Amino acid sequence: MKSVITGTGIGIPNNVVPNERLGLIMETSDEWIRTRSGVVERRYADAGQGSAELGMLAAEAALAAAARTPADIDAVIFATMTPNFFFPGNGPVVQAKMGFPESMPTFDIRQQCSGFLYGLELADTLIQSRKYRRLLLIGADVHTPLMPWNKGWDIVLGVENRDITPEEYEFNNKYRDRTVLFGDGAGAFVIEASENGGRGFVTARLFTDGSDIDALYMRGGTQRRPWVTPEQVEAGDLIPDMQGREVFRQAVSRMPEAVRAVCDAAGVTVADLDFLLIHQANLRIVEGVAKQLALPPEKVPHNIERYGNTTAGTLPILYHECAADGRIKPGMLVCFTALGSGLHWGAALYRT
Ligand code: ACO
Repeated sequence: MKSVITGTGIGIPNNVVPNERLGLIMETSDEWIRTRSGVVERRYADAGQGSAELGMLAAEAALAAAARTPADIDAVIFATMTPNFFFPGNGPVVQAKMGFPESMPTFDIRQQCSGFLYGLELADTLIQSRKYRRLLLIGADVHTPLMPWNKGWDIVLGVENRDITPEEYEFNNKYRDRTVLFGDGAGAFVIEASENGGRGFVTARLFTDGSDIDALYMRGGTQRRPWVTPEQVEAGDLIPDMQGREVFRQAVSRMPEAVRAVCDAAGVTVADLDFLLIHQANLRIVEGVAKQLALPPEKVPHNIERYGNTTAGTLPILYHECAADGRIKPGMLVCFTALGSGLHWGAALYRT
């Protein structure tokens, strides 16, 4: 029995924010952002639009593409590092708002930029257990509230036509290595059990190494007394920390290792891959991974230029776009790979 993707969809916010607008509120430039990361523009969700709302847009489109209704689905898996609430996760939000039956369980998973990859493995494993036949897997992240946009959000979105104050400008500069990289977005797959033919998930190899958590993490949490104070917020203590060069170094070595490992496990070679879909964190990482694996650019698509890093959203958005415009065709061997905070990383193979 195989786990087959029967429908895909995406949820993309309306606000397009080109690099130039970020240059209004901090010391950065279109040239720096393009050459260092490949990002040209990103989308920011409106206030009131959380990862659950973007995820539901993607989920509705995926269900329609699969010709399924919520009543057909046996379980929902929601991958996000930016849920609507500290608790519960987005699963119950989606269950109630989309009208899934209460007999349907929802699984909330984290794993940040590797969240959707881990979700694929979980979905396949649930289907292989034969307890579940039809799953909805959603990956969505809304980064804008985690970034220091209280200091210039209005200017970035063009809501206010005012000059940034020197204090705000200085504050924003402290985070410019991070804020320019991220965007908001969601993707979803309907994944179903199928007894017909060779289509479906082949295998996955997943890894975790928590020995260097502060390379990429968000402080705060239950070790603190109290959980959060106004002073911590004002000091920017709840804005994600990232050692960019270290994460970059890990990404360009760990992802090729994972791709080779999953190909070995499946008895295929890297050259057999028709497509390698790489988590969209930085175009230079994508190009570096492709180079190490000797894969030509046409086999390694990217869309970071339009969305930035949407974390759990990047892999399903990229797959959806490549399938929708006909680049990914039936019978192809597609490899998904990602690395993110944790560190979590890995690779999964899928035959379309
Ligand atoms: N605009 C202008 N200058 C900037 C900006 C900016 N937005 N950001 C940093 N700089 C400056 C730095 O201050 C530094 O200046 P200095 O030389 O005077 O000190 C200079 O640019 C070079 O900075 P580096 O950090 O060396 O730049 P680098 O080429 O390493 O690129 C980047 C930085 C883009 C962050 C890169 O390291 C990267 O992409 N790392 C990986 C990030 C990543 O994958 N994150 C995963 C997140 S996924 C998840 O799980 C949430």
